[in-house]
Amino acid sequence: RPGAEEWVPDTRSLPRLREAAESCRGCELWVDATQVVFSAGPRSATVMLVGEQPGDVEDREGEPFVGPAGRVLDDALQQAGIDRTRVYLTNAVKHFRHEQRGKRRIHQKPAVAHIEACRPWLESELAAVRPDVVVCLGATAGRAVLGRPVRIGAERGTPIDAPDLGVPVVVTSHPSSVLRTRDRDEREAGIAAIVDDLRAAAGLTG
Ligand code: URA
Ligand code: SF4
Repeated sequence: RPGAEEWVPDTRSLPRLREAAESCRGCELWVDATQVVFSAGPRSATVMLVGEQPGDVEDREGEPFVGPAGRVLDDALQQAGIDRTRVYLTNAVKHFRHEQRGKRRIHQKPAVAHIEACRPWLESELAAVRPDVVVCLGATAGRAVLGRPVRIGAERGTPIDAPDLGVPVVVTSHPSSVLRTRDRDEREAGIAAIVDDLRAAAGLTG
């Protein structure tokens, strides 16, 4: 079965994991991406946030959540009183899946096969960081972390017991969901809902 496993070194060192991820060929997504986007944040983090995959800006800069969705996330973290530099921030899939249309690169959701192929990296990060809580930003992250389909609307904000992970999981909506509307009230309600879920997650750290 293809997947990242053979590229993941047996180590709890984030710099070593990051370096090894650069040569991952666990699925085909590396071919059209600029570079791998591994993670940001310290191993000492008590909160681990998992996104979907790098976007266009992240692919070019090599850092997670530095584009438009990252600005929404920054806003939500700030409102929740969580210091971004102290959380561990990563993605379910480490390479940018997209479709080229002329000069534009259009985001494509990762398939379940990509989520599964990339999961060994997520497992290595969980083992390295050992957070008190994992926050899944959107359904793709939920699927990756919990290993099953997740319905955000039905499951958000309430800690989910994940026995094989040994750490509680909180799911919330993806920050980019807020960017789909131009209506200001709708945007603010979307961010407020994420803030509530982040607060619930932060309450599980100790
Ligand atoms: N969306 C994500 O899920 N992750 C990123 O890093 C950027 C945008
Ligand atoms: Fe490896 Fe994940 Fe990139 Fe696929 S998306 S090549 S599994 S790092």
